[in-house]
Amino acid sequence: MTDVKTPRPTRVATMEKVAALCKRRGYVYPGSDIYGGLANTWDYGPLGIELKRNVKDLWWRTFVHRRRDIVGLDASILMNPRVWEASGHVAGFSDPMVDCRTCKSRFRADHLIEERLGTNVEGKSTAEMNAVLAEANLPCQVCGNRTLTEARQFNMMFQTTIGPVTESGLKVYLRPETAQAMFIQYKNILATARVKVPFGIAQIGKVFRNEITPGNFIFRLLEFEQMEIEFFVKPDEAASAFETWVAEMRAWLRLIGVEDEYVRVREHGKEELSHYSDRTVDFEYLFPGAMGWKELYGLANRTDFDLSHHQETSGEDLTYFDQVENRRYLPYVIEPTFGVDRTCLILLLEAYDEEEVADVNGKVETRVVLRLHPRVAPYKAAILPLMKKPELTEVAWRLFDAIQEKTAALIDYDETGNIGRRYRRQDEIGTPFCLTVDYDSLDDMAVTIRDRDDMSQQRMTIAEVPEWIRQQIA
Ligand code: GAP
Repeated sequence: MTDVKTPRPTRVATMEKVAALCKRRGYVYPGSDIYGGLANTWDYGPLGIELKRNVKDLWWRTFVHRRRDIVGLDASILMNPRVWEASGHVAGFSDPMVDCRTCKSRFRADHLIEERLGTNVEGKSTAEMNAVLAEANLPCQVCGNRTLTEARQFNMMFQTTIGPVTESGLKVYLRPETAQAMFIQYKNILATARVKVPFGIAQIGKVFRNEITPGNFIFRLLEFEQMEIEFFVKPDEAASAFETWVAEMRAWLRLIGVEDEYVRVREHGKEELSHYSDRTVDFEYLFPGAMGWKELYGLANRTDFDLSHHQETSGEDLTYFDQVENRRYLPYVIEPTFGVDRTCLILLLEAYDEEEVADVNGKVETRVVLRLHPRVAPYKAAILPLMKKPELTEVAWRLFDAIQEKTAALIDYDETGNIGRRYRRQDEIGTPFCLTVDYDSLDDMAVTIRDRDDMSQQRMTIAEVPEWIRQQIA
């Protein structure tokens, strides 16, 4: 079922260019920067946090507020460790790792084989990977010695201890997915939220994974956010609910302005399925350069795997009484899962563009522009008085307040420097509209609206602007 796609030839975005812009303009900084960083950790700056919030707010509005069959949850990151035993994560949430005996570097065996030998071994057993490694006798990527160990499974959950004494405290895990809390609270939600199968529980939150493989900027992180839904259905309706969710996930991508062209849906082979899944598709995105197609989102049919294991381990009855059919059963669960950070990353990659433009003196320069959809752009508009003169700035601030009141959106205000340079800055941070207040504004009570994408300009009365902006970002 994997879609066939032809890549767009004109893309100028590279991971390096986008990461550099993110640091330069305050979207994303390397974590612990002044201490030399910490691998696979990144911090969202003033613009990055706005992009991220817009993504999460839009997702919540789309899947919780606008629907009548999904309710929200915000659960603790720390849970009783028995949760992770029942879910299969203690035994099975691991990656195959090889170590270098000489320089002590550690690599993921499947990634090493894929990158160095071009063989996809996803879903293969450790023994099968070891057979491939033994035959290839690969050198260490760091020191070059052929001293790699066999692959061993390495659990990806971070552990910590509750209590003042490490040795006698309770060992707990930082959750590696938000999903489990929705199974654990399913019974309370059934009892209190007046929901009936089919219904969903949605959650957005931080999760943690001990990732070893280099991260590719914010693609693979040690701590990241997920937006997940566990959608409870009658077992015999799981297959059709799965198809409905494929369509819902495609619609979400269109809503945030991601073109179909770089997205494909890939069916997991039987050997690749997670321990809980009966069917999984990955929504893959075509990342630039050597990265190629990589997982963006996932959709799984988790069957009654989780509910039945939690029922067995906890001793609580988790069956659902279906009043229409007058019988009890364990619902099946369809799980659409969306990474927040990967969403931000592809939005930045999709939006990044460069074009040659002439300045006022005819000199050609490169305009860097982030063509973010107005729905997700950090600033929805920037107000630029042509000069820093009280008669202009007073009108500009009044307009600022009027737009704020109408839209509650984040608006930028910039009165310093030449107007061309101010436009370029707004282009580079993705502000869709610049509103220029000039001396004519004092007579005609109108401003010039400049469009970020084609740089076209139109004149509009100040009274009309707030409603016009509201419509553009709806
Ligand atoms: N509850 C199912 C689950 O957690 P997953 O495919 O392991 O499934 C879901 O993760 C999503 O979380 C992925 O599709 C991806 O968007 C995101 N994700 C997974 N690992 C990540 C990492 N190390 N860094 C950033 N995002 C990650």
